[in-house]
Amino acid sequence: MNKQSKLSIFILMAMLVGSCQQGTNKNKEEIQEAISLPDAVEFRDTIKGEEISLFTLKNKRGMEVALTNFGARIVSLIVSDKDGVNRDVVLGFNKAEDYNNPEEPYFGPIVGPFGNRIANGKFSLDGVEYTLPQNNGPNTLHGGLEGLHFVVWQAKQLSDEAVEFTCVLPDGKEGFPGDRAFKVMYSVNDNNELTIAYEAKTDKRTVLNLTNHAYFNLNGEGSGTILNHQLQIFADQITPVNETLIPTGELKGVKETAFDFTALKAIGKDIEQDDEQLTFGKGYDHNFVLNETKHDGYNYACRLIGDQSGIVMDIYTAEPGIQFYSGNFMADKVTLKNGATDSFRTGLCLEPQHFPDSPNQPSFPSTEVNPGEVYKTTSVYKFSVQ
Ligand code: GLA
Repeated sequence: MNKQSKLSIFILMAMLVGSCQQGTNKNKEEIQEAISLPDAVEFRDTIKGEEISLFTLKNKRGMEVALTNFGARIVSLIVSDKDGVNRDVVLGFNKAEDYNNPEEPYFGPIVGPFGNRIANGKFSLDGVEYTLPQNNGPNTLHGGLEGLHFVVWQAKQLSDEAVEFTCVLPDGKEGFPGDRAFKVMYSVNDNNELTIAYEAKTDKRTVLNLTNHAYFNLNGEGSGTILNHQLQIFADQITPVNETLIPTGELKGVKETAFDFTALKAIGKDIEQDDEQLTFGKGYDHNFVLNETKHDGYNYACRLIGDQSGIVMDIYTAEPGIQFYSGNFMADKVTLKNGATDSFRTGLCLEPQHFPDSPNQPSFPSTEVNPGEVYKTTSVYKFSVQ
């Protein structure tokens, strides 16, 4: 082969390699383009006579969070996976009106004034019995029919990294006592942490249990079930429940049970085990009692890893418990942002919180708040890759 033909083969190969690389880049760009925040125009709406909008937070590392003031909800949470490709790791809708539906499965809102269940829709404070709507079998779930998830909050964008939502619930709303003022701040920082800081005040003794109800899929919304995600929960005990998911009042050790997530384990590994607790929950739908690790006032609650994306989420919280719900009631009832439906176990919730039914369980940490006190709690969701 002469020099010239060697040179032309070399040029031809260089061109081929170049075009292949271009191809890969294009695919990556195409994926990046597909994964973007929802169109803010679809969130310019009026619900219950009040204005709804979309708010966005961004850090310097490309993490983006979209929120709406309808329910103070997380709509999208975009982070890079192990290959640098963006994924939206929470489930949600791409227009505001889709959230205004009683069948909506609590996608991303603040739930309260009392997140999780209160037995038989009743509790007593200072000898007065309060009656609440029974919106989940015999029990009250997530503050009743018109809980904080259906409130139009006032919003203030504080900076590119922070937005604050405030609202007021009047005395007697959904049966709960006290004129109550709520403030929730969402913020991101360059450590890829999303922080949710909660505050509330009341003018009458009341009960409060606030949390966020995001559905996570760390492989990306609509990418299949969460059963191969790896999960570790720093909890040696759960609060076992009865058949309506109300705690029995006992604490039960997780060792040698399907609830042992003390080391990383695939969520699907033991989910079909013959266990009364899994039967009651139709899978995992339980409060884990967090081991007190309290670094800087926070318990290290859990670590979740997307098996396909390598995205890692660590949750730190000031709360004593975390509800792990494996998406057991998801049943293709609604259409998500990317066009997929909410199929069985394609998202999971990890809700830092006080224990369910605390107002009726004297042995659980108290959820009572008095006038003059400031209710405060914080949870941090830290994203990385492995
Ligand atoms: C919570 C409950 C679940 C379920 C979801 C919403 O996480 O514990 O039982 O009701 O909310 O579908």
